[in-house]
Amino acid sequence: MIDLVVNGKKYSLDVSPDTPLLWVIRDKLHLSGTKYGCGLGICGACTVHIDGIAQHSCQMQVKDAAGKEITTIEGIPEDHSVKVAWQEEDVSQCGWCQPGQIMAAVSLLKTKPQPGDSDIDSKMTGNICRCGTYQRIRRAIHKASKMTGEGVKK
Ligand code: FES
Ligand code: FES
Repeated sequence: MIDLVVNGKKYSLDVSPDTPLLWVIRDKLHLSGTKYGCGLGICGACTVHIDGIAQHSCQMQVKDAAGKEITTIEGIPEDHSVKVAWQEEDVSQCGWCQPGQIMAAVSLLKTKPQPGDSDIDSKMTGNICRCGTYQRIRRAIHKASKMTGEGVKK
């Protein structure tokens, strides 16, 4: 059995320890917001937070996530500044990459609350958007950064 804490909830799961965390999140916990894209650690669609740090869940074996705080897109509140800014900037196009983009953006703003364009470009480079929403992503991150000083949740 593998013990996991996902979005603050405890689970005890009968899974093979080398199963990719992404499959456990999607197929065992039915948290389908985290997407499968490449399965190779390239696209970032599967990004979750492990102890607050953005990581590609397709590249992590579930045994390595045991005992750590795992957060998926479902664990980010709807009134979080990044989700609010994403809506206001109408960032999403097809939507596939967007949960991963949001998770990467939340992680970025934790370490760099007021990022410049170059910070955004370098930190978000692990998240690919086939629809080319990069300019809107940038705008939304800047907007979320401003909002955190205006009473919207970090
Ligand atoms: S599915 Fe994990 S990085 Fe693409
Ligand atoms: S919105 Fe379509 S892949 Fe990013």
